[in-house]
Amino acid sequence: MLFNTCRALAIALVAAIPYATAQRFYGPEDPRLVTQLTTKHPINGVSTTPDGRLFVVYARVDGSKGPQVAEYDQSTNTTSAYPNEKWNNYTEGADPATHFVGVNGQRIGPDGNLWVIDKGAAALGGTVLLPYGPKLVVIDTKTNEVSKVYFMGNATRYNSLLDDVRFNIATGKAYLTDAGSPGLIVLDLATSSTSRVLDGDPTTDATIPVSAEGTALHIGSKPAFIYADQLEVSPDTKYLYYQPANGGMFRVETKLLDQATYNSSLNSNSILGPYVEPYANTPSTGGTAIDAQGNIYVSDTDSQRIIKIFPNSTMTLLVQDPRLLWVDAMWVDSQQRLWMPAAQLNRGTPFNGGKNLVEPPLHVFSMDIGVGPSPVDHA
Ligand SMILES: *[C@@H]1O[C@H](CO)[C@@H](O)[C@H](O)[C@H]1NC(C)=O
Ligand SMILES: *[C@@H]1O[C@H](CO)[C@@H](O)[C@H](O)[C@H]1NC(C)=O
Ligand SMILES: *[C@@H]1O[C@H](CO)[C@@H](O)[C@H](O)[C@H]1NC(C)=O
Ligand SMILES: *[C@@H]1O[C@H](CO)[C@@H](O)[C@H](O)[C@H]1NC(C)=O
Ligand SMILES: *[C@@H]1O[C@H](CO)[C@@H](O)[C@H](O)[C@H]1NC(C)=O
Repeated sequence: MLFNTCRALAIALVAAIPYATAQRFYGPEDPRLVTQLTTKHPINGVSTTPDGRLFVVYARVDGSKGPQVAEYDQSTNTTSAYPNEKWNNYTEGADPATHFVGVNGQRIGPDGNLWVIDKGAAALGGTVLLPYGPKLVVIDTKTNEVSKVYFMGNATRYNSLLDDVRFNIATGKAYLTDAGSPGLIVLDLATSSTSRVLDGDPTTDATIPVSAEGTALHIGSKPAFIYADQLEVSPDTKYLYYQPANGGMFRVETKLLDQATYNSSLNSNSILGPYVEPYANTPSTGGTAIDAQGNIYVSDTDSQRIIKIFPNSTMTLLVQDPRLLWVDAMWVDSQQRLWMPAAQLNRGTPFNGGKNLVEPPLHVFSMDIGVGPSPVDHA
């Protein structure tokens, strides 16, 4: 009982205190930011290969149509649907197993392939097409063809929002967040079997809505709760860090998550929950990235900042700039640059009663951080 009270208090300290100074930042601009991409439509994720290829995901929260996943050619500033038009051509009634229904993220994995996270619903909060909508699609970047699809229908629910993925190749696992039905999913990459862990645990749940530019967001008339969302694996693979989008970061040892795939006792929150540690009192967040030294970069959607969390959990300001409007999934490339897609997601149709308030042009920025990616994350 005492332990549970302490745990509740620790969780409250990290997660439930609304960010006191949350407000929009008006300037000045920081000259260290380099404009990498300028686009008409929001991009909420970029990833690169060491040989210079660049992939992006279009959020389509501005009501625009077109491919969700694309390869971006910076020499001409043109894009092409990736891996092809057909995968990007989902229309109502089409086969959800062979099309991207609603892509939430993409990343080059430690294997050099492009991993696409499909939430399996055409709109944010829309109907999840079970069982073949929610999935992880692996595209072989050498052949530019889909090489494997992990269907996540057995680990997701009607209200799930399959959000993002990270890897632990040494143990053959991938970890995913469910931002719609709070929980984590452990995927065994060899067998495709899945386990839900910390399902509905206070650390995957959200107690306050996500906020941006100093304002709590709503979906329709309801406050926007976005549950377990950002996640990172430490470079030594010992820890998985995770948080709901409104912030409050936690960590848990990966070996406990991995055990859940063969020992269902670990799926019980009363057993796993007490092993979760509060890590950092992060603000409302669009996206994160981790570097080779285990520093985690967190975008503050309220105050257009990127916060750097050292491995000892101390938070420090990396950069603040008025242009960093809802920076979503970030990326550390092999040239020691942090990529920051300023996606303005809070201004999109899902959070504004169907109105599009996104102000183009949009930008993806980069900044030198003097350290490369975590090798367990990607090359
Ligand atoms: C492509 O876009 C970038 C970013 O806006 C710009 O700096 C660059 O000059 C453009 N290149 C071409 C070939 O248009
Ligand atoms: C896209 O879908 C439409 C309607 O379902 C179909 O007519 C068209 O041939 C498809 N295009 C591609 C490239 O698959
Ligand atoms: C769910 O699990 C069952 C039993 O292992 C398997 O036959 C089925 O293909 C799985 N469904 C999905 C969508 O992965
Ligand atoms: C399964 O997990 C429970 C709870 O942590 C533990 O007591 C038990 O020893 C584990 N069994 C195996 C085979 O690992
Ligand atoms: C945490 O780590 C940073 C970077 O190494 C260091 O500057 C700072 O002093 C450390 N803080 C504590 C409390 O140890």
